[in-house]
Amino acid sequence: MAKGCGMSKAVAIGIGVLTVSSVCGLVMMAVMYKIQIDKYPPRDPPIPTKPPVLPTGLPPNLRLPDNVIPESYKVFLQPYLYPAITNNYTNQSFAFTGNSTVRIKCMTDSKTIFLHVLDLNVTTVEVRKSDSNEKLSLSEYRIHQNESNFLEIQLKDKMSGNETYYDVFTKFEGELHNDLTGFYMSQYTEKVKDDEDQERFLATSLMKPTDARKVFPCFDEPALKAMFEITIIHRPDTNALSNTIGDPGTTEINGEEWIVTTFPKTPAMSTYLLAFTVSDFTFTQKSSGIKINVHARREAILAGYAEYALDVTEKILNHYQTIFELKHSVEKIDQIALPDISVGAMENWGLIAYQESGLLIDKATASTFDEEKVVTLIAHELAHLWFGNIVTMRWWNDLWLNEGFATFMSYFGVEADGWDLRDLIVLREIQTAFQADSFNSSQPLSMQENDIQTSSEIVGLFDDITHRKGAAVLRMLATFIGNENAFMKGIKAYLFKFQYQNAVHKDLWECLQQETTKDVEAFMSTWTETVGYPVVTIITQTGETTQEQFLLKQAWGHGIAWQVDIRYLASSDFVVKQDVLKVNGPVRRPHFEIEDKDEWLLANVNCTGFFRVNYDEENWNKLRMQLERNHHVIPLINRGQLIDDAFNLARAHRLNVTTALGLTKYLINDTEYFPWESALKNLDHLVLMFDRSEVYGPIMKYLRKQITILYEHFEEYTKNGTIPKKLTDQYNQVNAISVACSNGLSSCITMASSLFKDYRNGTNNIHPNLRSAIYCSAIASGDDDDWEFAWNEYQRATAPAEKDKLRYALSCTKEIWLLNRYLQYTLDPSKIRKTDMVSTINYIAKNVAGQPLAWDFVRGHWSYITQEYGAGVISLGSLLDAVTKRFSTDVELEEVRQLQREQDENNQGLAAQALEQVIERTEANIEWVKENKLLVKEWFIGEM
Ligand SMILES: *[C@@H]1O[C@H](CO)[C@@H](O)[C@H](O)[C@H]1NC(C)=O
Ligand SMILES: *[C@@H]1O[C@H](CO)[C@@H](O)[C@H](O)[C@H]1NC(C)=O
Ligand SMILES: *[C@@H]1O[C@H](CO)[C@@H](O)[C@H](O)[C@H]1NC(C)=O
Ligand SMILES: *[C@@H]1O[C@H](CO)[C@@H](O)[C@H](O)[C@H]1NC(C)=O
Ligand SMILES: *[C@@H]1O[C@H](CO)[C@@H](O)[C@H](O)[C@H]1NC(C)=O
Ligand SMILES: [Zn+2]
Repeated sequence: MAKGCGMSKAVAIGIGVLTVSSVCGLVMMAVMYKIQIDKYPPRDPPIPTKPPVLPTGLPPNLRLPDNVIPESYKVFLQPYLYPAITNNYTNQSFAFTGNSTVRIKCMTDSKTIFLHVLDLNVTTVEVRKSDSNEKLSLSEYRIHQNESNFLEIQLKDKMSGNETYYDVFTKFEGELHNDLTGFYMSQYTEKVKDDEDQERFLATSLMKPTDARKVFPCFDEPALKAMFEITIIHRPDTNALSNTIGDPGTTEINGEEWIVTTFPKTPAMSTYLLAFTVSDFTFTQKSSGIKINVHARREAILAGYAEYALDVTEKILNHYQTIFELKHSVEKIDQIALPDISVGAMENWGLIAYQESGLLIDKATASTFDEEKVVTLIAHELAHLWFGNIVTMRWWNDLWLNEGFATFMSYFGVEADGWDLRDLIVLREIQTAFQADSFNSSQPLSMQENDIQTSSEIVGLFDDITHRKGAAVLRMLATFIGNENAFMKGIKAYLFKFQYQNAVHKDLWECLQQETTKDVEAFMSTWTETVGYPVVTIITQTGETTQEQFLLKQAWGHGIAWQVDIRYLASSDFVVKQDVLKVNGPVRRPHFEIEDKDEWLLANVNCTGFFRVNYDEENWNKLRMQLERNHHVIPLINRGQLIDDAFNLARAHRLNVTTALGLTKYLINDTEYFPWESALKNLDHLVLMFDRSEVYGPIMKYLRKQITILYEHFEEYTKNGTIPKKLTDQYNQVNAISVACSNGLSSCITMASSLFKDYRNGTNNIHPNLRSAIYCSAIASGDDDDWEFAWNEYQRATAPAEKDKLRYALSCTKEIWLLNRYLQYTLDPSKIRKTDMVSTINYIAKNVAGQPLAWDFVRGHWSYITQEYGAGVISLGSLLDAVTKRFSTDVELEEVRQLQREQDENNQGLAAQALEQVIERTEANIEWVKENKLLVKEWFIGEM
């Protein structure tokens, strides 16, 4: 998952971009290529020999044994589904049948073969010796009914372990469910004539991380790379896509006409990157060396929604080839926009799948942020071509190598299309990672291989830690090495050395070590193997400096020492200097000591280190006064980071909340997005804690006062229906409008209602950037007719981003009965698509009027939701996260505990970690609110 994903939830919601962390959680991708190297002669992908991993055996270990190694597969799949129900075909079928022959190399004399299989009826199993085709006698085969998903084949006689080849043939039957995992079915409507909609059906797949085993029996571990030769037999009027370029022909089976599409062999790749699609989609293409295709519903292609993606894909791909110096002679990159997919996007080899709003852009109605979402998502997925698809983590415990790199590199990738988002990585990824990593229940970036075994443990890794902390730590490493060229050189060596193979994080350290005299492993091991992150506390009177683990709940972790690379700045000379902290102290740092009464110290310049900083109250005050006097001397990123650190330190009882609040006062003089966004995110948390209490009145008043100047700063644009030039100004214009309107600034509400009225009367003059905020405000202050109008517009809209904006705006009403009705709609896929269910409920929960409704709704439908979203465990986490954000009372805590108990009874373990975090956060909130309510109230009253 990537961008669109990077934005904070507050902003994301503010601008109606669909970006719950789930979406980000899982983004992935791939492509089809042979590798070439600029400076070196091209070389063929190696045939897999012995896998680098030595898996350790049977249950309870759950890893495949290493007696046999897969080398290549021949797979036939025949889905029976029709693309539409017409007079010609009336009996829809969701069954599929198939067979697979996998060639294995036997490494040790043995009688057993273990593969993975799940939810398939395996009807035939045969094992033959490859050279003689002699059939071996089986004593039995059985499927283990436990989390191992093993298909165990027992032979009467031993296979010879002298690298002898055998062919394992299986025949199987399965069903395309509408569950968004494995090989699945998806239903959507297509306009066939102006007023006629027709139901359509397609089959598609999502294997990552462990669902290839649901499609055919296979060795479903990332290190067991093999070559795949796929054949898909499908109905006329459909086309089939897979990882390589398909060649369709026709055939007759039992008197029926079928299309047989054969796909040439892939290079050696992991099973999780396989993909199959059968649909009646069309596509648009660009061919300048590499064939780039974008596939989507016919309507979307005809409307030109795929053009933007087509254009940027080429640019980004070329850019990556230049910076990685590892060139693809890519055969093709298919990208497909799916009506239903449980992740933002998936980097399948040669066939990248996206949510529609992650790939399609309607130039007429898209906001800058919609485009940014698409371009960053594509950049993330294309980065996976290198990081993940050709160099793959050895086991899921190092998933961050895939996701951290893809997230980090996407910020470089988008530059190919003129986007300068580099500083935004701090807001989008790093501040979010700080949040996720502030809990006792967090996990280290790199887990032990043996700690990750079951599919649900693997799925649980697709979170903000692997994606965002992964990216944050890579950015820190680049700064630590100190020379961007040296860093990139090490990365290039890593890619070259491990292409078509698997790697562990130590391999990366070794490649980077070649480029620097600093000890990379000693530095990085403290960041990847330790849970959490530090706060560095500096007492500027004495220079005394300590580091401790930052945790929101009070039990702070002592005794852990990160290697903290501190870049700092003092007002005495404004020169950035460097220091390294290796012990958990306290240690005295004379250079942090400040004698002059007016001087201040600022550490972690540009937030390049993944840590927070705390100071003595006096230094905080001096920093605040500097901001009020002349904020420009404090680097922009730090103006935001100071606010983020202060509020979080206050949440963790390490700083007075009034000190944090004090830092927001200077904002009347600052129009930059960075500090504003940091402040709004944190004030948003305060609002969540208090918007059901009497403290809310004074908070609203303060927010209204602070935002007025920003609102007026952009008012000229807003009035004219135009937008500022600079991207971050565009973001801040939206912040100004949504905060002003939602905190009762009457000129804002009037403006929004009047523009919405024009829209209802037939002219929508609202600039696409402002639509989310303005629709939302108008619906919040409007009546049920306004809501109905937006609902109809939502159903009518064809551009995915416009649909999302309306879907968000519908959650803004204050009418309980409308919100309840809307919640009910989320269970009806003909009204709210499955893909959109979680984010819709999250939007409703964000609305103070919708919060209790959403929570009751989720609790009430928990078993239904968990069943329908089997693989959407990640979405479940973000759903729980969102509907409990405000929780800060004992009653609410008890309700979550109750859900956790029921969950344990059913032994589902779904979203278990998310529940842990919710409980931890709620406990922290309860404590914090008790302690701070009065202080907060008094501070805000004092500002009135
Ligand atoms: C249905 O069959 C008729 C006659 O075989 C053919 O002309 C028509 O195109 C078919 N319609 C569809 C939607 O396949
Ligand atoms: C596998 O299935 C395909 C398509 O149905 C069929 O043509 C082929 O003969 C099958 N292979 C074997 C070994 O049965
Ligand atoms: C194993 O293979 C090697 C090389 O092919 C051969 O020299 C040796 O005799 C074989 N051993 C057995 C037990 O088949
Ligand atoms: C699998 O086998 C069971 C039991 O025979 C049967 O009920 C089910 O329909 C089969 N599933 C498929 C997809 O063929
Ligand atoms: C901090 O970031 C800004 C903006 O990206 C950059 O111009 C500046 O050089 C950076 N400062 C340091 C010390 O890296
Ligand atoms: Zn990804």
